[in-house]
Amino acid sequence: MTEHKIGIIMNGVTGRMGTNQHLIRSIKAIREQGGVLLKNEDTLIPDPILVGRNEKKLKALADAHGIERYSTDLEAALADDYNEIYFDSQTTVRRAESIKKAIAAGKHIYCEKPTATNLEGSVELARLAREAGVKNGVVQDKLFLPGLLKLKRLIDAGFFGEILSVRMEFGYWVFEGDWQKGQRPSWNYRKEDGGGIIVDMFAHWRYVIDNLFGNVKSVSCLGATHIPERVDENGERYKATADDAAYGTFELENGIIVQANSSWAVRVNRDDLLTIQVDGTEGSAVAGLRDCKVQHRVNTPKPTWNPDIENPFDFQTQWQEVPTNDVFDNGFKVQWELFLKHVVADEAFPWDLLEGGAKGTQLSDLGLKSWQERRWIDVPDIKL
Ligand SMILES: NC(=O)c1ccc[n+]([C@@H]2O[C@H](COP(=O)([O-])OP(=O)(O)OC[C@H]3O[C@@H](n4cnc5c(N)ncnc54)[C@H](O)[C@@H]3O)[C@@H](O)[C@H]2O)c1
Repeated sequence: MTEHKIGIIMNGVTGRMGTNQHLIRSIKAIREQGGVLLKNEDTLIPDPILVGRNEKKLKALADAHGIERYSTDLEAALADDYNEIYFDSQTTVRRAESIKKAIAAGKHIYCEKPTATNLEGSVELARLAREAGVKNGVVQDKLFLPGLLKLKRLIDAGFFGEILSVRMEFGYWVFEGDWQKGQRPSWNYRKEDGGGIIVDMFAHWRYVIDNLFGNVKSVSCLGATHIPERVDENGERYKATADDAAYGTFELENGIIVQANSSWAVRVNRDDLLTIQVDGTEGSAVAGLRDCKVQHRVNTPKPTWNPDIENPFDFQTQWQEVPTNDVFDNGFKVQWELFLKHVVADEAFPWDLLEGGAKGTQLSDLGLKSWQERRWIDVPDIKL
């Protein structure tokens, strides 16, 4: 039983996702649990070097979490053979340039989604990584949410019979930043900085739909910028140039119809920030981030339309919880562990820069096009 260290360049780690999900909840947690156990009983300890622009911020973050290495010099970190993996959670517009440098330096690539802001950019990354023979993977965190894992279990068990349709409701009110601070970074609301809910969320919807329900055949999307002006982190008013809501419909190859509403301008009146309702011939389910409830055909009430009487049904109580039965670890951490095993032990990691990256960007590109041209658009195969 040997202990191996693996150097990981973490770029963009002072940001929201980088700090919370990737550093604290994943890499730090993996180090604290004693590393990743490989099949041959060896253990792998991730040894990150935090990379960014601001030395002060990097030092504070490194000190706070017991990380020894940090640097403002990406080129030097890439030139060091000890660092085998390059990870990127910078804002989306910055990602492609840095990943290209990392591929050229022979690093394995792991990164946040979307991999680029358009299809050409994300396909180029997938092609370059393939040509260079480096391993690569993209975050697909929603697949590892306990609620979605329960949903997957129901699908695999055949609970639904034939699945007819899926309704996904995502969103919450993101404050405008004037009378209360916005809870998301302001670049999300500026197209020129890689913002927009279609670019952001369609990257998720692609892998959620493909992995749970079937391949997307066609897309129709209506976007909107409901809040035209916001106030940024410095108290400056700015024009929201990106879409903050998207009303999408997807037709799958197997005939299932998926509707997805995504909005940062909606107040939550549902069980969770994301809910996915699946209706099938034998039963239905509604999954949230952690929970999932079901209604079988034999438990389905029989309402009739009659506004002249008080509603005799308490619909919300007519569903049954799917029990947890498993311990669900943080999804970002689970994916990091899978990717590390992929790099050092060649274990499977299906969500590479093509499957997990370019396909997501393709759907957002087509969603934007559908909105612009006010029409349905088919989703072609991607050729690298
Ligand atoms: N998987 C998910 O569920 C999920 C959720 C939110 C965001 N994201 C993605 O993660 C990425 C980061 O999002 P975030 O919310 O953490 O953003 P953020 O603004 O909090 O962090 C962005 C990071 O990029 C760095 N950065 C910004 N401009 C830079 C520049 N000019 N030069 C060098 N570094 C720069 C920042 O210092 C910071 O470290 C985005 O691509 C976003 O789409 C994914």
